[in-house]
Amino acid sequence: MKPPRLVVLISGRGRNLRALIEAQRSGRIPAELAGVISNRAEAEGLQYPHAAGLPVQVLPHIGFQDRAAFDAALAQILRDLRPDIVALAGFMRILTDGFVREFEGRLLNIHPSLLPKYAGLDTHRRALAAGDAEHGATVHFVTPALDSGPAVIQGRIRIGPRDDADSLAERVMEQIELKIYPQAVAWMARGELRLQDGAAVLRGKPLAGPATLEDLEEAFR
Ligand code: GRF
Repeated sequence: MKPPRLVVLISGRGRNLRALIEAQRSGRIPAELAGVISNRAEAEGLQYPHAAGLPVQVLPHIGFQDRAAFDAALAQILRDLRPDIVALAGFMRILTDGFVREFEGRLLNIHPSLLPKYAGLDTHRRALAAGDAEHGATVHFVTPALDSGPAVIQGRIRIGPRDDADSLAERVMEQIELKIYPQAVAWMARGELRLQDGAAVLRGKPLAGPATLEDLEEAFR
């Protein structure tokens, strides 16, 4: 059987992208990296896939008349790449319902908060301002409503007395995001994870709540 095809969408720094590429290259994600797409030509995250010789495409959203026109162009690029998994990794665009519906079940996103808390931007600052004891990140299937599709895996850490938004962002990235995203994409690539009847299903069982850091396999810890 052919390995599933993975496409990653980015806008910025690309640390999650890099973790996904490394996991793919080491064989932990049994997929073919079919492409990386950025909506920003200057995205720092393009350097690594470029150097690694991966197929990279840039589709600047500037220049499109509206969201629907951009999404139509993006959907066409994706159709040509025939992805089985589309991982949004810091892709800072809200996607239209039509786009999401076309790729639903194949679209995963990582969000730096304990969803359903803090959908949208500025999550680290908001968690601190609320005086939360814990913060984290969540991988979820993408459905039309922003940051609220079925959660797959969520990691949490305690907020420390000396945390500011930057230190918290860094700890969430290092201790959670760079582990849970490769794990979730690996589950998808192995066919162990899917979206069924609006629920995330892992190894045949609908998840009552997201998997946790405890559920990470050894290779992803
Ligand atoms: C990450 O915190 C991710 O959760 C959020 O955007 C950030 C992207 O960082 N959606 P990077 O581009 O992966 O470094």
